Amino acid sequence: AGTGKFFVGGNWKCNGTKDSISKLVSDLNSAKLEPDVDVVVAPPFVYIDQVKSSLIDRIEVSAQNSWVGKGGAFTGEISVEQLKDLGVKWVILGHSERRHVIGENDEFIGKKAAYALSEGLGVIACIGELLQEREAGKTFDVVFQQMKAFADSVPSWDNIVIAYEPVWAIGTGKVATPQQAQEVHVAVRDWLKKNVSAEVASKTRIIYGGSVNGSNCAELAKQEDIDGFLVGGASLKGPEFAVIVNSVT
Ligand code: G3P
Repeated sequence: AGTGKFFVGGNWKCNGTKDSISKLVSDLNSAKLEPDVDVVVAPPFVYIDQVKSSLIDRIEVSAQNSWVGKGGAFTGEISVEQLKDLGVKWVILGHSERRHVIGENDEFIGKKAAYALSEGLGVIACIGELLQEREAGKTFDVVFQQMKAFADSVPSWDNIVIAYEPVWAIGTGKVATPQQAQEVHVAVRDWLKKNVSAEVASKTRIIYGGSVNGSNCAELAKQEDIDGFLVGGASLKGPEFAVIVNSVT
């Protein structure tokens, strides 16, 4: 981990029921969490209110997506204003499942980030390459392109956490090695230094996501440019998620 405050997010994706979420919240409420870590969970939209009203304030709530502008006649969408109304502080944008399964492109994601930031939400901005892109030696090209799309749209980096999630590591049990993750994190930080500013490069947290669990988090957390994690599957188990939160070094 670097010098910024460690940040661990739990992305619950499209999982859970009222009952399973109530159990997960009670496990999180009783977990012992290192004080010097930002902890955020992202429930499915329909359970945000339940989570907000039962989860301890020490853990903040994120959405998994938000509409690109002000709410209105956009069937099936959820606006930033509505998220704020529920007390949500963060939104995950550019997740690979939205890029590659739903088909969101860089420009649309950039606009969403700009709008969410303008309304005061923090943005967890996801980037990451596909397996064939890595194998073709294009990892840096892909993540720099995704970074540029964010940089072209956002007015400031103050409220952004970057999540590097190599797509081949998501939900596959195939975690990036600490060296593979560190290599990309340092390149992204360098990109920020060259294209935004040295100050933004040094203070922006870059977290890793992709098959992080209670057993592999400690080695990853030792890397200098890994400032936390975005956790999928393992965030559905309260005690294991707590181990990941507490892996800060
Ligand atoms: O956003 C977190 C994520 O995509 C990683 O998922 O299940 O591989 O930890 P998982």
